[in-house]
Amino acid sequence: MWRFLSPQILFGADSTEYLERFEKRRAVIVTDEVIKNLDYVSDVSKHLENSETVTIRAREPCIDDALELAEEMREIEPEVIIALGGGSVIDVAKAGRILMEAEIEPEEITPFTSLEEYGFRGKTSLIAIPTTSGTGSEATWAIVLKNIKERRKVIMAHERAMPEIAIVDPAFVYSMPDHLVISGGFDALSHAVEAFLSSFSNPFSDSLALNSLRLILDNFIMSYGGDRDAREKMHISATMAGIAFSNSQVGVVHALAHAAGALLGIPHGLAVGAFLNPVLEFYAERGVERLGEMNRNLGLNILREIERIEAELRLFEYIPVSEIESHRSEIAERAMEDSCIVTGPFVPEREDLETVIERVVRRCMREES
Ligand SMILES: [Fe+2]
Repeated sequence: MWRFLSPQILFGADSTEYLERFEKRRAVIVTDEVIKNLDYVSDVSKHLENSETVTIRAREPCIDDALELAEEMREIEPEVIIALGGGSVIDVAKAGRILMEAEIEPEEITPFTSLEEYGFRGKTSLIAIPTTSGTGSEATWAIVLKNIKERRKVIMAHERAMPEIAIVDPAFVYSMPDHLVISGGFDALSHAVEAFLSSFSNPFSDSLALNSLRLILDNFIMSYGGDRDAREKMHISATMAGIAFSNSQVGVVHALAHAAGALLGIPHGLAVGAFLNPVLEFYAERGVERLGEMNRNLGLNILREIERIEAELRLFEYIPVSEIESHRSEIAERAMEDSCIVTGPFVPEREDLETVIERVVRRCMREES
């Protein structure tokens, strides 16, 4: 038996107006310092009569951030939580919504956990409004938070982590800075590709994966150039790719990116960008059938398409190649322990991962010279 899960999605111009349905509810707007300074909070609060804002640190999201948010929200007792920000803010709000009710260690939040046994009653609705186009967090039931002490990413997942509503309003991404366009775009691209290649892929996730891939390949570079229509399409396709992988899985690219990102502090989207093509080359050499199926469906060669985008956006300039090289063995070891390692088209050996990492290093150096 399979099940398909998605939030209710509002998208397109003025979709934030949908919040007026919640105007009488006691609302908490969760955001970070950067978004607060952009004045986006008033674009949300103007639709609500009774809201207050909780600002979290603008950084890679950590377990501590979610625990602190839960504590604050227990005081406020909101009826609705509105997460306004990039994937970091949304992930912290997703975890915070659960932790404000459930007496549970964050790492125990798995798809098989009965949250009700820990006191979770689901009293508060969660609405996610992404201000970047990439993570798809607004539409998934996964939460990725960093355990700072152990320098590793902790992946939590539960269907009650999924926002009930995602508002995908392009107004929040028209002036998104270039580095976020690049990292978000590569993240969305890798979600679509990995969702299609996952051993859990299914006809529903395939439709969203392929359609979001078409949109991303056609619009990524123009979006970087600031084209408003391209930004709108990237914004929608990031959510589509999010729903795709939430109902399928991501795989080896994300396992490696989680490991390298947590160890070396590489932003998530750049880390997946660095590993995407080398992993796909490895799959091509191993004769992964689904890769050919993807190419046939799209009528192109995905490897060449990604190379085109990498070159145009100069991805390699953003990758700390010597740090990746000097941590090769540790990255491979940690990636083998990541839950995403088992959900690709097949489970690689640790030596395979070291080969992929070597390939990342060679490609970056080739581009630098
Ligand atoms: Fe991702």
